[in-house]
Amino acid sequence: MSNILVGVTGGIACYKTAYLVREFVKSGHNVKVMMTKQAEKFVGYTTFEALSQNEVLRDDYTPTPISHIDYASWADICIIAPATANIIGKINAGITDNELLSTVIALSCPLVLAPAMNTNMYHNPIVQENINALKKKGIHIIDAESGLLACQTTGEGKMAEPNDIAEKVLSILNNKEHKKDNILNSENNLLQGLNILITAGPTKEYIDPVRYITNKSSGKMGYALAEEAYKMGANVTLISGEVGIISPLQDIQYVVSAEDMYNTFLKYFPQADIIIMAAAVADYTPNKMENNKIKKKSDTMELSLVKTKDILLYAGENKQNNQVLVGFAAETDNIEEYAKSKLMKKNADIIAANDVSRKDIGFDSSDNEVTLYFKNGEKRNTGKQSKIDIAKIILTESAILYNENQSE
Ligand SMILES: Cc1cc2nc3c(=O)[nH]c(=O)nc-3n(C[C@H](O)[C@H](O)[C@H](O)COP(=O)(O)O)c2cc1C
Repeated sequence: MSNILVGVTGGIACYKTAYLVREFVKSGHNVKVMMTKQAEKFVGYTTFEALSQNEVLRDDYTPTPISHIDYASWADICIIAPATANIIGKINAGITDNELLSTVIALSCPLVLAPAMNTNMYHNPIVQENINALKKKGIHIIDAESGLLACQTTGEGKMAEPNDIAEKVLSILNNKEHKKDNILNSENNLLQGLNILITAGPTKEYIDPVRYITNKSSGKMGYALAEEAYKMGANVTLISGEVGIISPLQDIQYVVSAEDMYNTFLKYFPQADIIIMAAAVADYTPNKMENNKIKKKSDTMELSLVKTKDILLYAGENKQNNQVLVGFAAETDNIEEYAKSKLMKKNADIIAANDVSRKDIGFDSSDNEVTLYFKNGEKRNTGKQSKIDIAKIILTESAILYNENQSE
């Protein structure tokens, strides 16, 4: 039994959504409904309350003080039917100016839209662009069908029938669970035969032969990922900055600077199936490394730095569709915002974000707590756990994505 959140927006097809809710309830699922103000002009919320046996989230009535968060976190899947041209555009633009939209943006489960509108509206390039952009973001679209429309014209734009929508929503839900079960059941050989490329540790940017700029990364997270991936059957290549870890892994490519890491990465990237970039690579490096030790002279000294090559960006821009790319975001503030923006900018499949301002986790600690942000808008918090257990979660989620990519 799953929790299904049904969104209703303002189109004639609203009346069909009552049948959809009944389908879900009949097949034993919990259903909650949310409606836009415009939708309420077509069908009264009382119908949906009676059918779902739950209070309807509306602009004029929020069942709990922060209903948009409560409804979003309750849902295992969310279907918006009918989805108006208006709501499709607003979701694509990230607008949240009503309760339904605020809930949608807070979802961490799959989102499905069943568009319904007049044929000219449906064929309008703006609407089509929005639909295609949403598809690319991993949002499921149940294409509108051809038929007689409420405006008495015949053409594309008719909402799919409630039983077909129900079938598709449940298959998305089951498929996800099924894939997860299958993968999790294969436990130890989850990554059997896959090439996994992992980067770990800090880089060192030399100023002169005895001085360098580095960071606090211990390499523990990257090594945990590499060793767990090996145990799960993967062919692992670990590119590591200088760390004090002794590892039984055979294929470790040691590097020093961000430049070395980039060059080594280029060699192994094309044949990797899953790439996990846990290294803390310097963003800037000295303009020039002095050949001799710099002597103490004046009271102040200026160091000129230049940007290093962005390895994650390179990987995102050059990855093939079947490669899964995972990046890390070590942040001290606005973690969610930075992580989501990194996900988009770097074209990664997953960003694992952690709060490095916390003393009990992160750099040099054996524990960590990360939130995984997925391309399709889902997110998963691991809670505080050992880096080994976090590594297992990240590898499992990467394997699920890899398998999904293969079956598409
Ligand atoms: C009688 C009537 C029928 C409508 N049917 C649709 C429709 O099927 N699809 C659609 O995208 N918009 C339709 N609209 C326009 C939407 O109701 C309008 O764009 C509204 O702003 C949508 O609000 P919402 O997306 O917040 O629910 C219809 C409007 C009226 C008056």
